[in-house]
Amino acid sequence: ETEEFLAKFQARIDREEKIEPNDAMPNGYRKTLVRQIGQHAHSEIVGMLPEGNWITRAPSLRRKAALLAKVQDEGGHGLYLYSAAETLGVTREQMTEELLSGKAKYSSIFNYPTPTWADIGTIGWLVDGAAIMNQIPLCRCSYGPYARAMIRVCKEESFHQRQGYEILISLCNGTEEQKQMAQDSINRWWWPSLMMFGPHDAESSHSEQSMKWKIKRFSNDELRQKFIDATVPQAEYLGLTVPDPELKWNPEKNGGKGGYDHGEIDWDEFWRVVKGHGKMNRDRIKDRKKAWDDGAWVREAALAHAEKRAARQTQ
Ligand code: ACO
Repeated sequence: ETEEFLAKFQARIDREEKIEPNDAMPNGYRKTLVRQIGQHAHSEIVGMLPEGNWITRAPSLRRKAALLAKVQDEGGHGLYLYSAAETLGVTREQMTEELLSGKAKYSSIFNYPTPTWADIGTIGWLVDGAAIMNQIPLCRCSYGPYARAMIRVCKEESFHQRQGYEILISLCNGTEEQKQMAQDSINRWWWPSLMMFGPHDAESSHSEQSMKWKIKRFSNDELRQKFIDATVPQAEYLGLTVPDPELKWNPEKNGGKGGYDHGEIDWDEFWRVVKGHGKMNRDRIKDRKKAWDDGAWVREAALAHAEKRAARQTQ
């Protein structure tokens, strides 16, 4: 890749032109996108597992229908994102194999268990809320297929966030025990949700280049701060607290607009979970592997059908 080629590509990015699948692009740009979109797709698919756990036990038919729809949406997001990654010359089979072998990552958040119904509310509110904060800027990502996929995904995530928050409102308007269940759930999910935004900017190996290429528009710490500032008042509305004794309103922050100072994330826990040693990592991969193996006959049948049809058409 010559200096001239790289400079011309950067100039396109700087002009806010969208890069499309058949355009020339630096190898590093392609690799970064395959890595990020692949990880994103895997997160959507693995993310179906903690909530799928509650479909048969949702407390009413209405809750069950909403949860079922939400989990199906996540499956759709995964497929959409695999397709976006495929435009960069990688196959879904390759990406899946990398997930199952542990080579490709997926979001740390999905390695935590969901022992109570309140967790379904908290996941919708905090986890999908964090996902929206991270994904709205991706609608302006320089790579066209990823940016366009994000528009629909964000609309659906917004529904997910509201259904989660509404579950928590119901629990908080319920008995003392129900409210306590909601508080316990927030205590467990608050810090892992903040970890979703990735390591501190100083530790984030890809951020600088990804921001230059306008794949990322905000840094990990910027988005994390925005999320905290938006979410703490929502916890107050519920009459619940976030488990951070150092959380404090700071009127000087954000150029005088104000924002929250907060305690430090347990980064040892973050890296432990990312490296495969969280509570649920093994179960998640085991479940994905079983689903992939159980689906082998469907893939084989679809391929045989496609081959027969193609043969018939050429006759
Ligand atoms: N969980 C697992 N791995 C993570 C996480 C996380 N929460 N955050 C960062 N990492 C990994 C990165 O993938 C990278 O590893 P790699 O070099 O092996 O690929 C490493 O930690 C260093 O991090 P960064 O340099 O900050 O990586 P990056 O620039 O890719 O930023 C981020 C990470 C913010 C997650 C980015 O990839 C992104 O915006 N992805 C799209 C959104 C997404 O994947 N969301 C998934 C959860 S939302 C949902 O599914 C509902």
